[in-house]
Amino acid sequence: MRRIAVLTSGGDAPGMNAAIRAVVRTGLDAGLDVLGVRNGYAGLIRGEINYLSRRDVGGIMQLGGTFLGSARCEEFLTLEGRQAALNALTSRGIEALIVIGGNGSQAGSHALWKMGFPVVGVASTIDNDLVGSDVTIGVDTAINVALEAIDRLKVTAASHRRAFLVEVMGRKCGYVALMAAIAGGAEVVVIPEREIPPAEVAQELRAAYERGKNHALVVVAEGAQNNAQRLIKHFEENQEATGFTLRATILGHVQRGAHPTAADRLLATRLGEGAVRALLRGERGVLTGIRGDHVVTTPLDEIVGRRKELDLGLFELARIMAQ
Ligand code: F6P
Repeated sequence: MRRIAVLTSGGDAPGMNAAIRAVVRTGLDAGLDVLGVRNGYAGLIRGEINYLSRRDVGGIMQLGGTFLGSARCEEFLTLEGRQAALNALTSRGIEALIVIGGNGSQAGSHALWKMGFPVVGVASTIDNDLVGSDVTIGVDTAINVALEAIDRLKVTAASHRRAFLVEVMGRKCGYVALMAAIAGGAEVVVIPEREIPPAEVAQELRAAYERGKNHALVVVAEGAQNNAQRLIKHFEENQEATGFTLRATILGHVQRGAHPTAADRLLATRLGEGAVRALLRGERGVLTGIRGDHVVTTPLDEIVGRRKELDLGLFELARIMAQ
């Protein structure tokens, strides 16, 4: 193997730049040519590929986003799109592709692998829903952004005796919400894995008010059936007496744009290096992730179509801490 390429795909995640840097510098150190694909699978289909040097990836580690660009690509879901991507790789003599991304992106790398092209994935998504890695690149930063918002909202909430609903990203996974709720000392957490009806949320708020709290925080995962919008609508229609007046903040993409934390830079650097090492060992069709403190690989066959389960013991911890 002499020439590899790297791309970032799907929702950007803080730390992707550090992962690209690690792939490039590890690859060059091993004597490989390393090429970067711009704009994810969409750029691959269009052949937006060029050589990367060590200097090209200098000064990017501390930046959020991905300097290669990313995309959600409908065309890659078609056989024609994937065939065009494959042609772009083989016509440039590229012998393996490293795909930095989450579930959808790894489904894409799996599809290329099934077409016979050597791929290795790197687990990267703020959602942390990817089987094969305890944590994924970007999730620590996303939790920290949510936490900073929660800390600030608590200050203003306490001044006005208000309750705030804070909605965080995570797609169908409640991991970011649950962790932010525990670290931020929220009174209630609403996640898809453990739905709470709006009336129960109101009861919890009422109980917090009666325990003498001067503010309350409800962290809501965007993927919950009762997301922030639905909860607010319910409260407006039902006028349940919670004691507090209510406000809602939806964090959304703010969570994705931050500078990566130290934890995310370190994880990304280790996984980027790990992906190149896996290729050099002859591994193909695997995802690079972390288990405990070890960089590990898991066959993409075991990952695609599955979603990591949330430890619901932590939900109980959040409940006890809220008392
Ligand atoms: O998968 C990452 C993520 O940020 C999810 O948390 C969120 O639901 C989704 O992407 C948003 O996608 P887009 O950036 O395409 O709006």
